[in-house]
Amino acid sequence: MKIAVLPGDGIGTEIVAEAVRVLNVLELPLELEQAPVGGAAYAALGHPLPESTLKLAQAADAVLFGAVGDWKYDTLERSLRPEQAILGLRKHLGLFANFRPAICYPQLTHASSLKPELVAGLDILIIRELTGDIYFGQPRGRRTAVDGHFPGAEEAFDTMRYSRPEIERIAHVAFQAARQRGKKVTSVDKANVLETFQFWKDVVTEVHAQYPDVALEHMYVDNAAMQLVKAPKKFDVIVTGNMFGDILSDEASMLTGSIGMLPSASLNAKNQGLYEPSHGSAPDIAGQGIANPLATILSAAMMLRFSLQQPEAADRVENAVRAVLAAGYRTPDIWSEGTHKVGTREMGDAVVAAITGKTITKS
Ligand code: IPM
Ligand code: MG
Repeated sequence: MKIAVLPGDGIGTEIVAEAVRVLNVLELPLELEQAPVGGAAYAALGHPLPESTLKLAQAADAVLFGAVGDWKYDTLERSLRPEQAILGLRKHLGLFANFRPAICYPQLTHASSLKPELVAGLDILIIRELTGDIYFGQPRGRRTAVDGHFPGAEEAFDTMRYSRPEIERIAHVAFQAARQRGKKVTSVDKANVLETFQFWKDVVTEVHAQYPDVALEHMYVDNAAMQLVKAPKKFDVIVTGNMFGDILSDEASMLTGSIGMLPSASLNAKNQGLYEPSHGSAPDIAGQGIANPLATILSAAMMLRFSLQQPEAADRVENAVRAVLAAGYRTPDIWSEGTHKVGTREMGDAVVAAITGKTITKS
């Protein structure tokens, strides 16, 4: 099983290193090969997604990805910015289905900014369409306005669009996922204003006819943003477009205590996948050894489950994460009085120890 390891920028290198250590103690026939991506790749090879990195990712069964982005690259022209690496990988590998689970672990109920009773036991799954919408729609650019409020003025524009097959396939993914869980899908749209999302709603409703055992509700995105902080446990599976999914998944992550806990999987039609933490490169804390590696470690577990068909190994990793939380290990983002504050490396050590069956001792 070939895994392309792309650590990227900022805390990416630190957290991916811990996930790699975890994978290595599982004693599976994994072939890991590392390549630069993002700002690091631009600095080394002049492009955020070099041909060699893309080839490696395309040939692999799965990609383990850290994070990309750093303020120092924000002034580059768009095609050379670190973010283009992740967008390019999604596009070239056809990774249209993005799974972002938001699970509130019992030990972290108090780390959430919401009242504990609102988030205790939370287990929702956001399924974000990842290769369409205003993120990739053409045309886009800058031009001189010919109409609108200020004809003759400089303006910028993007195109929001979804085709029927794009909506159908992500709807199938959502209904099938819901079948394995709470059997409820909330499709999030903005059908009251946008043509694209009226179409989205219509097509999701059509696909639903094939899943009579799953309940479907429709919700406008503004209301969904509100319900997520009002009564998040009412959701089971949320399916939505690329941009709404970007925003709602960050919001949902905060329900769980820390975005540092949230893994993600992005799959294509062949079950090839890219696995990355839901958080970014956090340049403000990079190099300090304090980033939470658990989201990346849990992403590696999703990789074992979804792309490598190793459900037992995935269970071992997820159980190890639960064990270290139960033992009181906390990186600063999830730390609270009375628990044991550790850095990135020590958290990785603790997970490795829990997997290999060694007793976890608080150093
Ligand atoms: C995410 C990120 C990316 C996105 C950025 C880095 C391009 O925010 O994965 O949610 O907007 O999709
Ligand atoms: Mg985002």
